[in-house]
Amino acid sequence: MTYTVTLIPGDGIGPEVAFAAKRVIDATGVPIEWEIVEAGGDVMYKYGTPLPEETIESIQRNRVALKGPITTPIGSGFRSVNVQLRQRLHLFANYRPAKSIPGVKTPFENVDLIVVRENTEGLYSGIEHVVVPGVVESLKIITREATERVARFAFEMARRDGRKKITAVHKANIMKLSDGLFLEVCRQVAREYPDIQYEEAIVDATAMRLVLNPHQFDVLLMENLYGDILSDLTAGLIGGLGLAPSGNIGEHYAVFEAVHGSAPDIAGQNVANPTALILSGVLMLRHLGEQEAADRVQRAVEQTIAEGIRTRDLGGTATTSEFTDAVIARVQA
Ligand code: NAI
Ligand code: MG
Repeated sequence: MTYTVTLIPGDGIGPEVAFAAKRVIDATGVPIEWEIVEAGGDVMYKYGTPLPEETIESIQRNRVALKGPITTPIGSGFRSVNVQLRQRLHLFANYRPAKSIPGVKTPFENVDLIVVRENTEGLYSGIEHVVVPGVVESLKIITREATERVARFAFEMARRDGRKKITAVHKANIMKLSDGLFLEVCRQVAREYPDIQYEEAIVDATAMRLVLNPHQFDVLLMENLYGDILSDLTAGLIGGLGLAPSGNIGEHYAVFEAVHGSAPDIAGQNVANPTALILSGVLMLRHLGEQEAADRVQRAVEQTIAEGIRTRDLGGTATTSEFTDAVIARVQA
């Protein structure tokens, strides 16, 4: 069976890392026909919108997409394409594993965390207005429905992957209603999974505890903004944004992308680390049920890095394409 998968190259380093990931996935021999569609700041002038309808329709048709990062200009009238995609396709859970890669020097070894981030509401609902000049309101939306969906996703994933513990991360001591509801729903769902240990932790203290000893956590479940921030932190624990993959998962569709953004500071130089997007491709292959190919790519990436072939962010000198070629050689070996 040939899969059809939507590929969105994206902005900045997006095309460099997206096509690198595509080449690696193609090297596994899993038959994938890529439908390449556009989104992002670079195509705004062509379509009048950074998120053309045909891009949404492509994902709806194929149900699976691999996506490069997309620039969100600050202060422009356009809302984040990433946030819009997640909301429009009901990609309610953002799954962000942070797993140490052998040989990458970091303060901790064997970090193996998963951040599960609610992906459609919270402070990223995009409901903002000027009350009077000099005063603005940004609303934080928490619903029982979305919280229950993402909590259930986290517990089901924990059960499937043999995870032991879920920590619900919150600030319910201050945001009594919104985070209060989030916690209440997490507790209810947790009761249905007595085999998974459940605990709660306040977000600021969690940030501190993560950098002191990440091994005290397993799966971290939280609302949108906290998840955005803490998943960059967990990416830092394993060696940086160049290594951290993610999956945006809904009932009908799944979009896989790196945690990092379009990195305009290094775009077009062939120096970006494609690992994060290649590992997002690994998550995608697993989602498709192609476990053997996924394992092969995962191992090839680990071998390449362990053998010292590394991009600049990891202290190496390999270009994006040299690193990618090395991974492909090991996928095919
Ligand atoms: P960023 O993640 O693009 O870059 C932060 C730092 O990490 C930069 O120094 C960059 O060079 C480095 N970096 C990121 N990815 C790397 C890689 N693969 N290899 C080597 N170094 C890498 O974050 P920033 O600068 O805050 O955001 C840039 C743009 O990306 C913004 O417009 C932002 O809105 C957008 N963005 C998009 C995301 C998405 O499409 N899912 C996610 C995060 C940000
Ligand atoms: Mg982010």
